[in-house]
Amino acid sequence: MRLKGKSALITGSARGIGRAFAEAYVREGATVAIADINLEAARKTAAEIGDHAYALKLDVTDQASIDAAVKAVEDKTGGLDILINNAALFDLAPIVEISRASYEKLFSVNVAGTLFTLQAAARSMIARGKGGRIINMASQAGRRGEPLVAVYCATKAAVISLTQSAGLDLIKHRINVNGIAPGVVDSDMWDEVDALFAKYENRPKGEKKRLVGEGVPYGRMGKPQDLAGMAVFLASDEAEYIVAQTYNVDGGQWMS
Ligand SMILES: NC(=O)c1ccc[n+]([C@@H]2O[C@H](COP(=O)([O-])OP(=O)(O)OC[C@H]3O[C@@H](n4cnc5c(N)ncnc54)[C@H](O)[C@@H]3O)[C@@H](O)[C@H]2O)c1
Repeated sequence: MRLKGKSALITGSARGIGRAFAEAYVREGATVAIADINLEAARKTAAEIGDHAYALKLDVTDQASIDAAVKAVEDKTGGLDILINNAALFDLAPIVEISRASYEKLFSVNVAGTLFTLQAAARSMIARGKGGRIINMASQAGRRGEPLVAVYCATKAAVISLTQSAGLDLIKHRINVNGIAPGVVDSDMWDEVDALFAKYENRPKGEKKRLVGEGVPYGRMGKPQDLAGMAVFLASDEAEYIVAQTYNVDGGQWMS
């Protein structure tokens, strides 16, 4: 067990990739807060994972909610060791149709949510004096632009940049900040993405998802579980000397 006795908080872990991370962390011996804006779904997921998972209500756009979640983890487990900034929203529109409301919503969750949850976790870890690990979920969308995906791509580029700056600033406290950049992962989010592409590219439902899967060098879309090995590794003792990096886990989609 590589995370025995560790306390982790994973944002947006009621479903999808965050849930797969929580399952993997519990298998490796950690206790995990399933922290999600959807408390009912978080409770169900925590109950399904078992005794070492518990649900917390968290809205990463609300500072009081972030502070309360970090405090709840401290109270329950004695201190926070690992944060995964996983909660995010997606949207899609041609440049000439992007709305200010969509821009503000995505930057609020994906960028401000990541920064201020990271900040609260870092403050807690510094006060405790035992270091820690923070993993930010980026995306291949943060490596380059896409014609219909300008805002989401920009938020994920910002996550890669924040990972670099926070990683460099916090390593003196022995807090390692790194990121994971998935490619295309078959989750509820991608079903929503597919529906948006169907609308804007005038395709039958399901076609975009099939095409992107075929386009992955590995030969299929990722599954949430495909990312779990990297999330465990980055939180483990083996990753002690890794600082401010973002790793592609994408079946060969992007090389950098
Ligand atoms: N699915 C993909 O193809 C893909 C690819 C690259 C990167 N990613 C990234 O991986 C991460 C997880 O993606 P996923 O596909 O599992 O997403 P998802 O939409 O299935 O799950 C996101 C979770 O975040 C929660 N959430 C939304 N807003 C929140 C808020 N304000 N506060 C707290 N929780 C909130 C949702 O309730 C949901 O449970 C995201 O950061 C996403 O950008 C996904």
